[in-house]
Amino acid sequence: MHYFRYLGKELCCEEVPVAALVKKYGTPLYIYSQRTLTEHFEKLDRALGSLDHLICFAMKSNSNQAVLRTLGALGGGFDIVSEGELRRAIAAGADPGKCVFAGVGKTEAEIAFALEQGVYSFNVESEPELQRINKVAGRLKKIAPVAVRVNPNVDAHTHAKITTGTYANKFGIAFEEIEGVYARGAKLKHIRLRGLQMHIGSQLTSVAPFEEAVTKVIPLVQRLKARHALEFFSIGGGLGIVYDPALQSSSPAFWKSTAGKQILTPAIYATRLLPLLQPLGLRILLEPGRFISGNAGILVTRIEYVKQTGRKNFLIVDAAMNDLIRPAFYDAFHEIIPVRKQAGRRISSDVVGPICESGDFFAKDRPLPKVGEGDYLALLSAGAYGFAMASNYNTRSLAAEVLVNGKKSALVRARQPVEEIWAGETIAPWQK
Ligand code: LLP
Repeated sequence: MHYFRYLGKELCCEEVPVAALVKKYGTPLYIYSQRTLTEHFEKLDRALGSLDHLICFAMKSNSNQAVLRTLGALGGGFDIVSEGELRRAIAAGADPGKCVFAGVGKTEAEIAFALEQGVYSFNVESEPELQRINKVAGRLKKIAPVAVRVNPNVDAHTHAKITTGTYANKFGIAFEEIEGVYARGAKLKHIRLRGLQMHIGSQLTSVAPFEEAVTKVIPLVQRLKARHALEFFSIGGGLGIVYDPALQSSSPAFWKSTAGKQILTPAIYATRLLPLLQPLGLRILLEPGRFISGNAGILVTRIEYVKQTGRKNFLIVDAAMNDLIRPAFYDAFHEIIPVRKQAGRRISSDVVGPICESGDFFAKDRPLPKVGEGDYLALLSAGAYGFAMASNYNTRSLAAEVLVNGKKSALVRARQPVEEIWAGETIAPWQK
């Protein structure tokens, strides 16, 4: 579900023609729909109904100030993974008391900063980390609220680089070891065992692994609640979205099943998980990133050249893997459509960027309408892990970002001036 669609021949974000934004701000350009962000948040929020819950947006998926402000205003908290993210969230008006601090490598400085700001909880990934948090809290004369991350050893059946819930990866503490960790943690003077956390992976397209993990962990939660008076259970993020064009449309059919495969919706998620979670009598935390931001953003790019090699039709565009790394990194699929709708025959094309790496592509052998130099293409579902993973590789400026709300639009990040890329660099004294 999203608000990028053609009105006549013009691709629009809500009620604003994409072409007008491109004319004003140039390309590569990220465009976000505030209405899509809002509706995704509210859909999930509503699905959880009367359950005491807090949705902590995984801001690693999209940390633009305007996006954070949108979700904070809806009552959302934030799942943060660094001091930088906490500072960004605070800059966007977030309440640190609604932020959970995750990540396997928290430094002492990060822990101290988060304690001073009063985060809701530290999601602890190892015993040495628990001891470090205790030590830092002691120094600051504070009590640190923590939730230990349990690794339930459940396979999320997602891409190898984004699966996190099995013992083959670095996350959390093994299911069997958790009770011992809580028993030892309870003796630490500056630790308050506030909850239990888990996250089994990202881009899950079926509810089954969530169900399996929650079912496995619930008896553990009950025991820990009885012993340590836990207040919350975080079931992490990971709700997948539809990237496949055969399924993706703004029509209600988008939510229906295809080829016998049911798409994961908040309703299905809630219907299957609420009966398990409700009896716990605990506050439930969620950490969705992609579900909220994924389909709320597009990346618009200009076709610089059409290169026909006899074997291939290459559309060489002005965006590159530094702007959106997902195809290169995960072989991810992003639907690509022209900003001005084209009728007629489709041509199998490769959409590639200007970087000298064969990984610098957005699509291979994709049937696309006949488009030419100077036309614009939109890469859909680029709102999560798009701009957030962008880099300056090839000394390419970070793209501009625009937020749309109905008929209104605003530049929410200016295109990076190229000189800024090396502004922090100097030559060594002996080179003068
Ligand atoms: N909670 C924890 C502890 C996480 O590690 C993550 C994501 C989330 C929540 C949010 O997951 P989501 O709801 O967005 O699936 N760059 C990759 C995705 C990496 C996910 C990392 N952790 C991609 O572009 O697909």
